Amino acid sequence: MNLMETKIRKIDKNQIDKNVIEEAGALLRAGRLVAFPTETVYGLGADALQEEAARKTYEAKGRPSDNPLIVHIADYEDLKKIAVNIPPETDMLAAHFWPGPLTMIFEKSELVPYGTTGGLDTVAVRMPEDPVAAELIRAAGGFVSAPSANTSGRPSPTTAEHVEEDLGGKIDMILDGGAVDIGLESTILDMTVSPPMILRPGAITAEMFESVIGPVDVDSTLLSAESSQAPKAPGMKYRHYAPKARLVIVEGDLREEILAIRQLAFAAAREGRKVGIIATSETLPFYNYGIVKNVGTRENEKTIARGLYRVLREFDEEDTDTIYSESFAAQGIGKAIMNRLEKAAGHQRIAASEIVKLQKYRRITFVSGTDSARGPMAAELLRHRDLEQEYVIHSRGMVVLFPEPANQKAEAIMKSAQMTLENHNSRQFDQEDMQEDALILTISESEKEKILAEYGAGKNVYTLNEFTGDNTEIPDPYGKPLTAYGECYEVLDRLITRLADKLNSITEEKAWQEK
Ligand code: TXA
Ligand code: MG
Repeated sequence: MNLMETKIRKIDKNQIDKNVIEEAGALLRAGRLVAFPTETVYGLGADALQEEAARKTYEAKGRPSDNPLIVHIADYEDLKKIAVNIPPETDMLAAHFWPGPLTMIFEKSELVPYGTTGGLDTVAVRMPEDPVAAELIRAAGGFVSAPSANTSGRPSPTTAEHVEEDLGGKIDMILDGGAVDIGLESTILDMTVSPPMILRPGAITAEMFESVIGPVDVDSTLLSAESSQAPKAPGMKYRHYAPKARLVIVEGDLREEILAIRQLAFAAAREGRKVGIIATSETLPFYNYGIVKNVGTRENEKTIARGLYRVLREFDEEDTDTIYSESFAAQGIGKAIMNRLEKAAGHQRIAASEIVKLQKYRRITFVSGTDSARGPMAAELLRHRDLEQEYVIHSRGMVVLFPEPANQKAEAIMKSAQMTLENHNSRQFDQEDMQEDALILTISESEKEKILAEYGAGKNVYTLNEFTGDNTEIPDPYGKPLTAYGECYEVLDRLITRLADKLNSITEEKAWQEK
């Protein structure tokens, strides 16, 4: 395909420049291609009544020509020119949802060429709300076919820049009206069946239809991964968009999702894999591994719909191997979000609880008398081990009156091994340290007994010797020369190696290998 010059024209929907609209309209009337903003996604416009214009549309997108186009109108009366046997509920639906993110399917009239409908006797019709779209449609003669203005197999464009990335050099003009409002394609409702059936979820939900016309059906092939039936909207059968990286949706309650994704990202980073995370404003601070992108805020799922395709496009630019995504509420616009996400993931999901279940311990606390030498040394040694799971590792003391830095000799020994206790401040062990997911390892028997006496038995409290099955006594170097700290270090180093092995064997099942 020869490249052409793609004109880019900025346009402000609050102050529409008639000259720009006229220029774009003339191109469409001449059978050329113009991308334009709608409230859902950018569309690749062509005159819907010219067969040849449809052919060009398929070519520019690299899209199979059995995948029909949506015809966009600006005035309700125009519907009658392209559709026949329009059912009576249509008026009510149009009154509520047009102009807006709703596409309805009807039997087509003779006026609509088969090139536009992909050979079908039905036609999909939408009346977009964006005023730029409406003005353009009028300037073009009233009927503009427009698929999403992306290359087939890429996420739909939500900005003019996305359109340019995909179609620059292949189409005549892009009207740049800034970022779109909704960010996901329109809801498609098949009006040729009774009751009408949703073929593609979008911003207008089943509940919204039901409040206007009573029950509607939902195409069952939308819901399952391995349906043998073909979806009713031909476009829904294609694995719309496959990210370059493997995309996996992590499902569960939000707390579990965060814990599971943290673990998955940790495991990936440990193996030197590059991992991406689709997170939200609320969950962003919880992730410390991988490339984390904020898709929107959970307080308003509309922002997530708006951000989804942008984030997926951004990840295609990075060399991530795997992207883990949180999941979203299956209500309202959330249904459409999950539908697009699941299509992008090829329906790959993983239950967050499966991963969380394997993580018996999430924090490891070393307990010594004053939390000034052996405890902090053990903690620092463990932090430098290669662990298969992420742990919060710290130390506590049984008799800490006020916070103090680590013992200087202990620090000197750690420094000589390229570690440091510089940031350590001793802290008293208390009730808060007795959490369910804490493994408490004491330096000597006396701390263990004290904890059990004060906080009750049945918790995960062991001496370090007991837990590692190595009975080498950990000498107390307090008040002794530096060499005593050195000897203590040697013993701790050996016990911590055994501890790391043991911890790694606990998580050996490695849920993140996603069965
Ligand atoms: O929000 C939208 O609908 C955007 C903007 C530009 O309006 N357009 C859009 O078009 O998403 P496209 O071509 O990317 O998706 C149209 C979907 C496809 O899945 C197609 O198979 C289906 O609509 N479709 C079109 N005509 C149909 C028909 N007669 N019967 C069943 N499905 C149809
Ligand atoms: Mg599309």
